[in-house]
Amino acid sequence: MLIDNHNRVINYVRLAVTDRCNLRCNYCMPEEGITFAKRDHLMSIDEMKRLADILVNKGVDKIRITGGEPFVRKDLMKLLEYLSGLEGLREISITTNATLIGPHIDRLEELGIHSINVSMDAIRPETFARITRRDHFKTVRENLMRLIDSKMEVRVNFLVLEGQNLDDIYPMMDFQRQYPVRVRFMEEMPFNGGSRDFINLKWNHKKILEHIKSRYPEFEKLPAPLTSTSVNYKIEGHKGSFGIIPSFSRTFCGSCNRLRVTATGDVITCLYGKPVTNLRTLLRSGLEDAYVEEAIVQAVGSRVRDGFEAQEQFGPIFGSSMTSIGG
Ligand code: GTP
Ligand code: SF4
Repeated sequence: MLIDNHNRVINYVRLAVTDRCNLRCNYCMPEEGITFAKRDHLMSIDEMKRLADILVNKGVDKIRITGGEPFVRKDLMKLLEYLSGLEGLREISITTNATLIGPHIDRLEELGIHSINVSMDAIRPETFARITRRDHFKTVRENLMRLIDSKMEVRVNFLVLEGQNLDDIYPMMDFQRQYPVRVRFMEEMPFNGGSRDFINLKWNHKKILEHIKSRYPEFEKLPAPLTSTSVNYKIEGHKGSFGIIPSFSRTFCGSCNRLRVTATGDVITCLYGKPVTNLRTLLRSGLEDAYVEEAIVQAVGSRVRDGFEAQEQFGPIFGSSMTSIGG
């Protein structure tokens, strides 16, 4: 079992399979994109399979596939096929922008993928186009509806962006009223391109909830696992539910059970931290699994207590785009 130096069990890995994305969300990347990792610096599917074996062997029972946009990677399904057969892996989930998932939805369901989180910061086509700088709203909306109809749990992640999508908050609430979907409103974080005053982030979790309350005063809090990033609520008569993720206020660090591995094999032990070791080089070095395992144990054994400590150590603004960290 992986236990960190603050006595937290680490059983959840967020594995980014690519740093590339087919959207250009204005809060994440400049219009022209960023310098993506060289192809031979991305872990191969075989390397990721081997890594998954090692992690599961160390007690990891949940893997969330992130990116970039995971489905930009043409061989992603091969990895998912493999992971779904791994005994000991209780949950496989994916965070996606839902532009390219369409042809794979049936197979994902067959494979028993647990949940699909769809990043969608707008429910109106014009807001969507403005934020993403791409014209994929129709596809995303269609795929989202198909996902809602599937057996998989679906959540929509909506980043609250002052001056950009506040007018989409109530229509998004309306969406969860009509459909059995969990919509989560998220605080903005200080990553690449973020120019806001983050010390006094206006649209924090309290403000988001107040805003929702002024339209929907009655709701009940839903029970959630201790490790949940979102606080979730249900309004009577609504088919779905809504939640708020205090990603910047970081109220959930005490129960943090997660480790991040980027597409190039960097291990990040806190979202607000920096890479502490690189597993791709170890996996390619010809060393046995035990060495890779030891590097993971070492990384887990020297984690910061929380995202604030990480920020003190590494600086207030992420230097790199969220697309390389995987959210
Ligand atoms: P599960 O526990 O797998 O359900 O994860 P999740 O729902 O938090 O995953 P998802 O990929 O949907 O993440 C949504 C957002 O939550 C991210 O974009 C971040 O804003 C926030 N988030 C996820 N993990 C962390 C974390 O470890 N720390 C902080 N501060 N925010 C996080
Ligand atoms: Fe864990 Fe860091 Fe996120 Fe806190 S900010 S929940 S310590 S990854």
